[in-house]
Amino acid sequence: MTEGLEPIPAGRLPLSAQAPGKCIVFGEHAVVHGAPELLFAIDLSTQVVVRPAPRWSLNGDPGAAERHPYFRSIIQSPWAGAQPVDVRAVSRIPRGAGLGSSAALSAALTCALSSTTGGIDRPALAQRSFEVERGAQGVGSPGDTSAAVAGGFLTVNGAGVGEPLWTVRDGDRSWRVGRVADPGWVWVVAHTGVPRATGDAVRAVGARLARPDGPALLDEFRRVATEGTEAVAAGDRAAAAKLMDRNQELLREVGVSHPRIEALLEAARPAAEGAKLTGAGAGGSVVALPRPGAETELVRRLARAGGLPFVVRPARHGAALLSAP
Ligand code: MEV
Repeated sequence: MTEGLEPIPAGRLPLSAQAPGKCIVFGEHAVVHGAPELLFAIDLSTQVVVRPAPRWSLNGDPGAAERHPYFRSIIQSPWAGAQPVDVRAVSRIPRGAGLGSSAALSAALTCALSSTTGGIDRPALAQRSFEVERGAQGVGSPGDTSAAVAGGFLTVNGAGVGEPLWTVRDGDRSWRVGRVADPGWVWVVAHTGVPRATGDAVRAVGARLARPDGPALLDEFRRVATEGTEAVAAGDRAAAAKLMDRNQELLREVGVSHPRIEALLEAARPAAEGAKLTGAGAGGSVVALPRPGAETELVRRLARAGGLPFVVRPARHGAALLSAP
C-alpha cells in the first residue's frame, strides 16, 4: 500500500476529518476538456467535526443546505447515511481563491461520513468527493478533489507519466489520476482578493473553446501541460517556469485572466522564474516559482502590489480522520 493512500477505516460519531487544498501548476480549464493537468495538495487544510444531530446543519445553521451548494450536494448523496449530523467546519484555505477550499470541504466531509457507514478505500473516496463537487458546481474535473484525497503531486490525464492511482468517472467521461514525485521546490501563491465562481469560469472557457480555433488552442494547452509535467518530474526549473508563463498566455487567450492577476504577475516578474494564475482564474490567485534566494523579495513584491502572498509547500497526505473530538 502506497504511504498515505491507506483506506479510511470505519468509525462512529462524533468524528473529525481533514483534507488539504490544492495548487494547479499546469492545465486548469483544459483538463475539463481532456487535456493533462499537474497539481499538488497544499499545506493548508479544512477540518470538519461531525456530531449526531436532530437535523442536518453546518456550523449550527439548519438552513445551510439552502445556501451552501456543497453541503446540499453531500446531504443529497445516496451514501450520506440516514443519521442527520451537525458539521462544524474550519478552514485555513481562503475561500473563492482558486486554492481548493470547496474540494477540501467536500473530501473532508465525505471522508467523515463514509467512515460512519463502514469505511472506504481511496479510489472510491476520490469518486464520491468528485461527485459532491460536481453536483454543486454542475461542471468540472476531478483534479481538485483527487488532490484533497491523495495529497502530494498529481497528474490528471497525464498519459504515461507517474504512478497510476485511480480513474474518476462522470457518465461516459473518465479522468486518469496518477502520482508524480515532488521536486522539492518552494512555491509562492498570492490571492488577488477578487472572488470568483468556478462554474461560471468553466462554462465561459467551454464556450471559447467551441470557437473555430478552439481545437488548436486545446492542443497547445495539452503540449504545455505535458512538457511542463515532464520538466517538473525531471527537476528542470527553467523549463517548468517558461512553460508556466506560456500556460498563462493561453489562459489569458481563453479569457480567464483578470487585471488584478496581470498586476500581480507583472509585480512578481523580477523575482520569479515563472508565474501564472492558478485555479479557475477570473480573480482568485496566482502561483509563482521564485528565483532561488528571491523568495522573500517575491513575497514582498506581491504584497506591495496588493496581493495576499504566502509560501505554500506540498502536503504529503490527503484526507484523513483525526482523533475523535
Ligand atoms: C478549478 O480549480 C480548476 C478548473 O480546471 C475546474 C475543474 O477542473 O474542475 C478550472
